[in-house]
Amino acid sequence: NSMLSWQRTAFHFQPEQNWMNDPNGPLFYKGWYHFFYQYNPNAAVWGDIVWGHAVSRDLIHWVHLPIAMVADQWYDSNGVWTGSATFLPDGSIVMLYTGSTDKAVQVQNLAYPEDPNDPLLLKWVKFPGNPVLVPPPGILPKDFRDPTTAWKTSEGKWRITIGSKLNKTGISLVYDTIDFKTYEKLDTLLHRVPNTGMWECVDFYPVSKTAGNGLDTSVNGPAVKHIVKASMDDTRFDHYAVGTYFDSNGTWIPDDPTIDVGMSASLRYDYGKFYASKSFYDQNKGRRVLWSWIGESDSEASDVQKGWSSLQGIPRTVVFDTKTGKNLVQWPVEEIKSLRLSSKQFDLEVGPGSVVPVDVGSAAQLDIEAEFEINKESLEKILGNASVVAEAEEFSCEKSGGSTVRGALGPFGFSVLATESLSEQTPVYFYVAKGTDSELKTFFCTDTSRSSVANDVVKPIYGSIVPVLKGEKLTMRILVDHSIVEAFGQGGRTCITSRVYPTTAIYGAAKLFLFNNALDATVTASFTVWQMNSAFIHPYSDEAVRA
Ligand code: FRU
Repeated sequence: NSMLSWQRTAFHFQPEQNWMNDPNGPLFYKGWYHFFYQYNPNAAVWGDIVWGHAVSRDLIHWVHLPIAMVADQWYDSNGVWTGSATFLPDGSIVMLYTGSTDKAVQVQNLAYPEDPNDPLLLKWVKFPGNPVLVPPPGILPKDFRDPTTAWKTSEGKWRITIGSKLNKTGISLVYDTIDFKTYEKLDTLLHRVPNTGMWECVDFYPVSKTAGNGLDTSVNGPAVKHIVKASMDDTRFDHYAVGTYFDSNGTWIPDDPTIDVGMSASLRYDYGKFYASKSFYDQNKGRRVLWSWIGESDSEASDVQKGWSSLQGIPRTVVFDTKTGKNLVQWPVEEIKSLRLSSKQFDLEVGPGSVVPVDVGSAAQLDIEAEFEINKESLEKILGNASVVAEAEEFSCEKSGGSTVRGALGPFGFSVLATESLSEQTPVYFYVAKGTDSELKTFFCTDTSRSSVANDVVKPIYGSIVPVLKGEKLTMRILVDHSIVEAFGQGGRTCITSRVYPTTAIYGAAKLFLFNNALDATVTASFTVWQMNSAFIHPYSDEAVRA
């Protein structure tokens, strides 16, 4: 156990022990951020699922609370599964969640706080009339789960959507309700996409077309776009698309049908390890905050040995990218800056084929913000040279060989959690390539293939194209926390979360390097590196929740 204890993170939310998966019912109530999660109290593997619960003042420091809901009813005895919270106009909370019944049928259940005056919401009451929804005709009993937060229709009813599938078509069912106890199923679906399989943890919310603030889930009108996100059970990625919602019949259509939800070319919240996410409107700060389950990439045996499995990503604010008009941007919540300790600033010019140690001392807990610029002469040489072949259409982070494969204009970036000799390292980088239209395309990647010498670890190369507009420098932010690396390209247009398990690049032996592995480009890097403090993640006591 102690051999693997360095893998525990210092500022990410995780239970004291055992298994965790999806975020559930996140909300802000009476001064506290509440976080519920899929939790196995008995082992470091999935099973016996109940709702774990924790509270925080700032989304960074947490107090673990007693389990909020256990599997004590016929309608959830196989598991208290994923669900979402809705605030009613009087400020009260309703929770809808999936129960797996004694016969393993997926049904939807209603719960609410026993004492609305308790800011900690310690006790939850299950509605005696549960289940409130059972699988409708034509839907298989194991394909009906994860109700969303409800939003208001123009008629004044509440509306929810629930993921499912019909054969291989991923679908999202829609129901209207007035009291959350009885529901009317709409004849139409919110959306459907053939060949995407089961849609888990559907999320649906508005984003402002013009402003950087977040919107309450019921906001609608000409100034908003709507996001549909679904977690693809088959491929284990969270896909989303931007589109238009029609209140009259509860349907939604994507702006660009060629990148519809779950299609291989469609947008993802994150191109790494990131699944079953859920957003909520934080009325405290007027923002939409996204939580996500970050699983392990090591073996189940290692998880059992260390006694825990999974993290939650640092919560992200999510807004529409008003500059591209096409995608979301995600960014770690501003409160994470409260963990920043000492910083060092660097301005370095690095020629083709260089690796430069960045002296920041121990590099196991870092926040890095960096700007890169390819020198003008290098760019002109490439762009003006007709014999430089267009390769952007062929390039993919996953399939083009990782950070050791050299192109004219990339890769360049940082190697994090590296040993002195680079025997273990996780490069996070840009790769810039010419397209057939002679324009440059930029890719943002993380290569975990050399992250660990351990052989029970999956070590993919992750990433995707990232939009870069005229006049923009290339920017990245990286959060490093022992066994997790969260990378945000171009202000959060493309994000990549990786779990890595170095055996030597740990604690004080973890180093940071800047590298430029391009063949022809000299690159200027301006960046700041902060040492990050640990967050307090305390067990429950009266003291811990005072003040
Ligand atoms: C997603 C998921 C949900 C389900 C829950 C069970 O990871 O499979 O669809 O409600 O986890 O733990």
